[in-house]
Amino acid sequence: VSSGSAAELVGRKAEISQVRACLRAKRNVLLEGPVGVGKTHLALAVTRELGAPVFRVDGDNRYSEQKLSGWFDPPTVIQKGFTPEAFMPGPLVEAMKKGGILFINELNRLPEGVQNVLLPAIDERVISVPRLGEIRAAEGFLVIATQNPKEFVATSHLSEAILDRFELVVLDYQTEGEEVSIVSDKLKGRGGQSKELKLLPLASTRLARMTRNHPRIRRGASVRAALSIAEIADVMIRDGAAFKDAFLAAVLMALPTRIEMEREADAESSLRAEMNALLREWVDQVLAELGEGQLKKKT
Ligand SMILES: Nc1ncnc2c1ncn2[C@@H]1O[C@H](COP(=O)(O)OP(=O)(O)OP(=O)(O)O)[C@@H](O)[C@H]1O
Ligand SMILES: [Mg+2]
Repeated sequence: VSSGSAAELVGRKAEISQVRACLRAKRNVLLEGPVGVGKTHLALAVTRELGAPVFRVDGDNRYSEQKLSGWFDPPTVIQKGFTPEAFMPGPLVEAMKKGGILFINELNRLPEGVQNVLLPAIDERVISVPRLGEIRAAEGFLVIATQNPKEFVATSHLSEAILDRFELVVLDYQTEGEEVSIVSDKLKGRGGQSKELKLLPLASTRLARMTRNHPRIRRGASVRAALSIAEIADVMIRDGAAFKDAFLAAVLMALPTRIEMEREADAESSLRAEMNALLREWVDQVLAELGEGQLKKKT
């Protein structure tokens, strides 16, 4: 990417041009992809380069209509009544008034009633707020939303009505080379790098990627996990730990929260034991691939 804030994005050329095209065509975008694949990062990079103000919503099942559009501040209402100055605009009203982007993380986690508030805002570019009246969207108002695919987490479906108003941009995991770049970019600011520290981005990325294609694993690890492994191991190695000890310890801290085993009849504890055994196996494999013998000599 040659210009703008999207420069800090590694790769993603095709997806960036898809999102840009939608926004220039004044279409709302739904970004879909597994946890940690880079949806938020991509959305924020592209909206930043537009220069439009961005108002962010993080969807959860307790998010309310009032929180999305706005609410009256009780003390001010007592003093001044239901006047416009007593109204605290929510992100939807702010984005509409300022012609900005409403960025909704995990749209499918919002209760359906809250999702439906978006329909008139998108279609007629107007919503009506009780006791305040109609609010019209300024030129430029658009919605970018993200969702994780259904099979990954216990999330609700988006209604047909909502889906019909979004264009879909699918994000899949990036190539190993791109993921390694993401991790090494993140570690760059950490001062002098020994030969060993330079191996961390590749080792961490390789390990995270191994978790994605195993029959016993339902949800594998993203580049976010690779970032964690590398950042933790980096600290430990700088503190004097041996590469392989630091790498194993970081893997065992970073992955159990992020990967999910297929559940059969097994108890939670045996699943954890099986997971740890798998992780140790993969750590050995990655270390062997990187030439463990050579690393040992150095420490
Ligand atoms: N192409 C990329 N270039 C640079 N950094 C990236 C890229 N993709 C992902 N990252 C980094 O990886 C991490 C995870 O990305 P992000 O938070 O955008 O994922 P997500 O898909 O929104 O995850 P979630 O499903 O949990 O919301 C972040 O630290 C982000 O900065
Ligand atoms: Mg996100």
